[in-house]
Amino acid sequence: MFLRPSTIAAMHDPSPPASRLPPSLALPASLEAAIRAEIAAAGRIPFARFMDLALYHPEWGYYLAPERRPGRPGDFLTAPETHPFFGIALSRQIAECWERLGQPAPLVVREYGAGSGALAWDIVAGLAAQAPPCRAALEYRLVEANPRRLQEALAAFAAEGLGDVVRGEVIAANADPEPIVGVALANEVADAFGVHRLIWRAGGLREEWVVWRGDRFAAEEGELSPEAAAADPEGMLREHGIALEEGDRIEVSPAAAAWFASVARGLRRGYALVIDYGYPALELYSAHRLSGTVRAYRGHAVGDDPFADVGEQDLTAHVDFSALRRAGEAEGLVFAGQTTQGAFLASLEMGDLLVALGREPATTLPEYLAAQAATLRLIDPGGMGRFGVLMMAREAPISPPPRGFTVQPLRF
Ligand SMILES: C[S@@+](CC[C@H](N)C(=O)[O-])C[C@H]1O[C@@H](n2cnc3c(N)ncnc32)[C@H](O)[C@@H]1O
Repeated sequence: MFLRPSTIAAMHDPSPPASRLPPSLALPASLEAAIRAEIAAAGRIPFARFMDLALYHPEWGYYLAPERRPGRPGDFLTAPETHPFFGIALSRQIAECWERLGQPAPLVVREYGAGSGALAWDIVAGLAAQAPPCRAALEYRLVEANPRRLQEALAAFAAEGLGDVVRGEVIAANADPEPIVGVALANEVADAFGVHRLIWRAGGLREEWVVWRGDRFAAEEGELSPEAAAADPEGMLREHGIALEEGDRIEVSPAAAAWFASVARGLRRGYALVIDYGYPALELYSAHRLSGTVRAYRGHAVGDDPFADVGEQDLTAHVDFSALRRAGEAEGLVFAGQTTQGAFLASLEMGDLLVALGREPATTLPEYLAAQAATLRLIDPGGMGRFGVLMMAREAPISPPPRGFTVQPLRF
């Protein structure tokens, strides 16, 4: 049941990726040279800029390189890459949103950072099996920074006869998306925006800039960049009653907040759902995370040197869900729920899917055991189950709580 077509992974479009950076940056012959050129011109760059270049340089950025990432052969597994149960369970929440919105046709699902299209496939399949009238109303839009990956995904859906249901949507830089009635969705996207790395020194925040020293990139402390200062991080700490101590490190991402504000403006009526590794500010900036949360992923191993193997490793930082919520509220969204991925998937009764798989005569033992292990990984409160889930709404019912927010998260 619910098998993704092999074409999801197999299609390849040789067209070159479009640039989200000035073309002049494509001139140096490697990512390292491109970043060094920018540092040479400016003297130093904020870590947020370094991260943006490392991930999204049009030619060599981690996410814009031709290899398929993430995935089993890649550097880490996201929830949809772990098992189709994730998307099938999520489709139950989408079906409920459709009911709450009064069964609009079309129901637009706009998925940001859709990657290979795996989550889209599972949601479409989940709706087809569990909520056919909602599936009939569905218009699914993939938004993906990597145009090559987007073309691959769209070709795969077209090959399966779903070209009229799943389409690509290009949102021009600095422009807002067309307002939709439906659900805006982003899984593991918010943690891939550049962050400013800040450190508490002598009663105030300083910023870690990136310089080139000797033969490698290095950090250098200085005053806050204008972008970081505009986010008023000290005001944010005061607002949440957070007192830092000498040497404590935090990150802020004005880019992630600006992105979520744009997500909000793209909703005429409906729900925004963000799933990612992160916490509300009070939890995020608590003692045991004050050494910073920037992490590098390569070959399914996690490291903490963002300056190693630039462009060959993924860089992430925990998401400040309070900052996203504030950005959404500033655009007129209202809070609909926040929980953990484990509680969210439990609320959506993902376990039923495993039981149903076990009852199917065609299911083999290895297939069942793999699904069982994946189910555990997705809800494990010490693993992916810890991820945060935030839902906000515009002109859409928030009471009673949406279905995914009914089981209370485990705390330990
Ligand atoms: C960690 S991957 C997650 C992919 C997929 N959502 C999943 O869960 O498997 C992040 C994806 O977001 C894309 N991305 C990052 N920023 C984006 C943006 N502003 N708009 C659209 N896609 C973006 C990247 O190219 C990459 O494919």
